[in-house]
Amino acid sequence: MKKSVALLTIILIIITAVCGCAGEPAEPKEWYEEVSYEDISLKEIYSDYFMLGTIYTKNITVGADRELVLKHFDTITPENLMKPENMQPTEGSFNYGEADEMIAFANENGLNVIGHTLAWHQQSGDWLGQNVGREEAIEQLRAHIYGVAAKYDGEIYSWDVVNEAIADGASMGNNKTWQDCLRETQWLTSIGPDYIALAFQFAHEAAPNAKLYYNDYNLNETSKAKIAHAMVSELRAAGVPIDGIGMQGHYDIKLKTATVEKSLELFSSIEGIEIAVTELDIGMTGGGLDSEAVFKFMQSEQARLYAELFQIYKAHSDKIVRVTFWGYRDDASWRKEYLPLLFTSELEPKTSFYAVAYPERWLEEEVN
Ligand code: XIL
Repeated sequence: MKKSVALLTIILIIITAVCGCAGEPAEPKEWYEEVSYEDISLKEIYSDYFMLGTIYTKNITVGADRELVLKHFDTITPENLMKPENMQPTEGSFNYGEADEMIAFANENGLNVIGHTLAWHQQSGDWLGQNVGREEAIEQLRAHIYGVAAKYDGEIYSWDVVNEAIADGASMGNNKTWQDCLRETQWLTSIGPDYIALAFQFAHEAAPNAKLYYNDYNLNETSKAKIAHAMVSELRAAGVPIDGIGMQGHYDIKLKTATVEKSLELFSSIEGIEIAVTELDIGMTGGGLDSEAVFKFMQSEQARLYAELFQIYKAHSDKIVRVTFWGYRDDASWRKEYLPLLFTSELEPKTSFYAVAYPERWLEEEVN
């Protein structure tokens, strides 16, 4: 009797050990967790296709954030510190400290730096290009671009020279030209539509080693894509030194990824132009995230969209040189209420992380 009790106990101990703690069967791992997270590096997965990037703030230079960024990304784009209001807060006084620190961090760690941005309507202070005539505005544009871009020539891989120059809702119907579709910015008002060509010309003179980009959002919308296409083709044909188009990629859960592919095809048709995805994030918009069912649905939609996008990006990798996420941890995102990125606030990989790591298999096994 005693012997059989002892035997039973041993069997129970073995069963418990095999099935995991407390007698509960171990949770079967998902297929995408078969390789442990520690062994996955997104930049290695994509090394044959394009570089991967994220944003730079001082927070990425220490601790677990630093480790994560260095593990997964090849490039950094300063989230705010290189914007005009930070680089030249008052006329003639440039602020290089934070940018110098960022460049040193990049050099120490083998990262490429993307310059962002030289001519924009936001975060550009209250004087640059404002309340001045054309000649003075051109001189301010030149001085700003020389002051920033020349200082870092050879250190900056590419510049978003002009950012968001196309007006919301514009379209080229009714014989309108791309010039008619420009946003009413301080530069358009003070200089006129040729501020764009001038900005690229100055950037080329100041930083001959950097690739020069036009960067904008919603470039997957047909009418906006047509305007950007016309603008960049014409400028390039006229000899303006423009190398690439940056598709920002601030999307939400209603995205139709075929629209992104259509624009990639359109932009690819411009002779000699390269493409970068410069600010990718997919917001779980529409509300209801505190309901578990809604959250789960949104999360799987977000993962599906990331997987579809990366499959498309891979198919166009002959033109796409880089895909940059606008951050990595949801809680530090500029759209944090929509949890748009690949990692949680604890730096845990989300399902969207795995969808980016394994897009084809994700679409095969998780989407029906
Ligand atoms: C955002 C930053 O992420 C925020 O921290 C800041 O408050 C506003 O700007 N398009 C761009 C980026 O080109 O510079 C913007 O970044 C997001 C939209």
